[in-house]
Amino acid sequence: MTLPAQHLSSLETRSDGFLTDVGAMDIGSATATAVIARFDQSRFEDDLFTTLCVDRPDRLDRAVEKRKAEYLAGRAVAMAALASTGHASKQIATGPNREPIWPAGVAGSITHSKGRCAAIVTDQPGTLVGVDIEEIAERSSLDAIFKVALQPDETRLIREIDTQALTATLVFSAKETLYKALFPAVQQFFGFDHAELYGEPSETLLKLRLTKSLKNTVTAGSVFDIGYRQLGGSVITWLVTPAPAD
Ligand SMILES: CC(C)(COP(=O)(O)OP(=O)(O)OC[C@H]1O[C@@H](n2cnc3c(N)ncnc32)[C@H](O)[C@@H]1OP(=O)(O)O)[C@@H](O)C(=O)NCCC(=O)NCCS
Repeated sequence: MTLPAQHLSSLETRSDGFLTDVGAMDIGSATATAVIARFDQSRFEDDLFTTLCVDRPDRLDRAVEKRKAEYLAGRAVAMAALASTGHASKQIATGPNREPIWPAGVAGSITHSKGRCAAIVTDQPGTLVGVDIEEIAERSSLDAIFKVALQPDETRLIREIDTQALTATLVFSAKETLYKALFPAVQQFFGFDHAELYGEPSETLLKLRLTKSLKNTVTAGSVFDIGYRQLGGSVITWLVTPAPAD
């Protein structure tokens, strides 16, 4: 799948300072395209929805500026990634559980956090995709991750290592990536206790193991390889994986 460089630079130019550093990201997949960017909420204007050809849902009428800006940023990079599948200018709606609704035959995922946004898209049949960006946690947010998103065994393991803020954030982000990837297949909410860190992360990959089966389609014990990279003070995690057979 090819993503013309001029497509990305044109998106950046048209956004008039709202989107910067728009680029393709290598996620080690021959069948999926990742686009990443920074966005500046202070440069957001409603007119940018029209300029960037992103439909503005009515429910955003009452939303705060931050929400409008992150929605626009996420959809803009997602539509740029979508262009690599031959679906240029197709809109991405939102489902009842806030999941993005992709054109038929396409799977993908969107993330936006603290001025960074990214999307991954594939038209490979039977593929699930997830992506998540998180700012590396400090003190109170680190405590919240330990309390809400990690299991006692994970907490014990991570508390012992020097890079506990980075590793805890990575595991938290990887679990959100897993949720976004599996949701289209299982159509059910599942919490952070449904997956656990499996083994020590390598420099580019961490493994999550499912602790409970989901709708009998994804079985307990399934292991998922989550790719990751540090982006300054944030991390990005992603998963591109075959969908489970019914
Ligand atoms: C849905 C959730 C994962 C979003 O993560 P987040 O860090 O809050 O936000 P991000 O910016 O990274 O991602 C938001 C995007 O995720 C996508 N998303 C939201 N719900 C989704 C779902 N059910 N399925 C797939 N993608 C979804 C949307 O595109 C959304 O952006 P948009 O509303 O602008 O379209 C998170 O709010 C959540 O509910 N987590 C609890 C479930 C969980 O993670 N369980 C762990 C299982 S091990």
